[in-house]
Amino acid sequence: MDDPLALFDAWFVEARASEPNDPEAVALATADADGRPSVRMVLLKGHGADGFVFYTNQDGRKAADLGANPHAALLFHWKTLRRQVRIEGAVSHVTDAESDAYFASRSRDSQLGAWASDQSRPLDTRTTFERRVEDARARFEGADVPRPPHWGGYRVAAERIEFWQDRAARLHERRLFVRAGQGWTEGLLYP
Ligand SMILES: Cc1cc2nc3c(=O)[nH]c(=O)nc-3n(C[C@H](O)[C@H](O)[C@H](O)COP(=O)(O)O)c2cc1C
Repeated sequence: MDDPLALFDAWFVEARASEPNDPEAVALATADADGRPSVRMVLLKGHGADGFVFYTNQDGRKAADLGANPHAALLFHWKTLRRQVRIEGAVSHVTDAESDAYFASRSRDSQLGAWASDQSRPLDTRTTFERRVEDARARFEGADVPRPPHWGGYRVAAERIEFWQDRAARLHERRLFVRAGQGWTEGLLYP
């Protein structure tokens, strides 16, 4: 397969079938204005020709990093399949309409949690967080929960995608695709 996005689709389908949980879990690496890296897991909630989408609280550290340096790296490790996919590229916000649509598809508890959470500041106790969830529950009683202004999605527009497949005798296979205009160039890398 010469199209990395089609190859990703094929691997993702296999991961959904084989991984015991969270095939969509992906490590997201960002760097702050001084180039200091940080990494955390997020869930992939969409992907296509224009990029790879995740959603988050935009008051947190990853959002601060992306505000200062809108580039990121994603890393999937599908352990059962012994595969890794690395994706790197520029990051942009998804549209408000896209964030609204995804937020509306979440469970009500998740929606209330998004109102209660503040990823930028430590909460003193778990009880404070639970109280904030209950405050949000009372506030939106009998109504749809709107998307909080600080919550939304980001899209990583892939510029490099590397596929790693475990092979016998450590002869692992690595295929690196680099964006070239509308298409991609491909090279094989040594293990
Ligand atoms: C499997 C897994 C999936 C996660 N998915 C998300 C997610 O989709 N969005 C999110 O904001 N945090 C997610 N988290 C929590 C983040 O890893 C992180 O703790 C949080 O977003 C704060 O990151 P920050 O301080 O760098 O902004 C997930 C954690 C795990 C372990």
